[in-house]
Amino acid sequence: MVTSEPGPAAMTGDRKTPILELRNITKWFGREGDGILAVDDCTVKVKKGEFICVVGPSGCGKSTLLTIAAGLEKPTRGEVLVDGRPAGPPGPKRCVVFQKFALFPSETVAQNIKFGLQMTRVGAAEQEKRLAEQLAIMGLEQFRNAYPSELSGGMQQRVAIARALVMRPEILLMDEPFGALDAQTRTILQEEIQRLHKEQHYTVLFITHSVEEAVYLGERVIVMTRRPGRIKREIVLPRDVAWKQGDIEAAAEHPEFIAARREIWALVREEIVAR
Ligand SMILES: Nc1ncnc2c1ncn2[C@@H]1O[C@H](COP(=O)(O)OP(=O)(O)O)[C@@H](O)[C@H]1O
Ligand SMILES: [Mg+2]
Repeated sequence: MVTSEPGPAAMTGDRKTPILELRNITKWFGREGDGILAVDDCTVKVKKGEFICVVGPSGCGKSTLLTIAAGLEKPTRGEVLVDGRPAGPPGPKRCVVFQKFALFPSETVAQNIKFGLQMTRVGAAEQEKRLAEQLAIMGLEQFRNAYPSELSGGMQQRVAIARALVMRPEILLMDEPFGALDAQTRTILQEEIQRLHKEQHYTVLFITHSVEEAVYLGERVIVMTRRPGRIKREIVLPRDVAWKQGDIEAAAEHPEFIAARREIWALVREEIVAR
């Protein structure tokens, strides 16, 4: 694994204006007042370079909120702002990584990673340079010409992450990206994403149902209520805490980590058991 040049956020680093703002987002599926109210008046402000995790019980509207943040779904009410301006359609500025790898099965790893770049005006030489960079960052060099079916789940998800990172997005939107992986692979990728964030200062909005994952990765953890999803609480975790130096296994032995996990789990639990 190698490091590469700093990401775009590091170069423009203004941590005051939210780079992404979800303002009073409400989402009804079906007719308003009659269908399913998935998300109810959620406001989230994400600062440049911040790593925010959103946790909440299953079905509380996490994916709905992320899909709206990505511009893939329209809110019933409220708006999505990027750099203080109404966000346009989804684009290279904000890239999404879903739980399911969603790779093109008949394309190689290299072709999958370059896919998004081919939709932009990035020249062939620059595409190759960025591809090589991502292959190195994600440890995929020897799989360059492999097809997704020849890769393990963990490797496929590395390709999916590389495909987003190659666009040099300012905002990375991740919906349970490690949810389909075995525990060991998940641990490795959590560490990788933590390292990438530290080195390249990506802005990340990360959805997970795992409190442990949220405490390990997040600088701020947003807890949602059960459906209709509202913001229940925001917990700010110290930046550069000791527990973030190693992997999640090591982190889980830190008393502060344990305390934060307990506090957040109690909040999530209330939403699961309440009726
Ligand atoms: N396209 C859709 N049409 C109708 N209902 C949906 C749709 N997508 C999600 N929902 C409903 O909205 C609620 C929130 O779903 P979701 O955002 O996927 O929750 P989470 O990601 O927190 O598990 C659920 O009740 C789900 O069934
Ligand atoms: Mg979901």
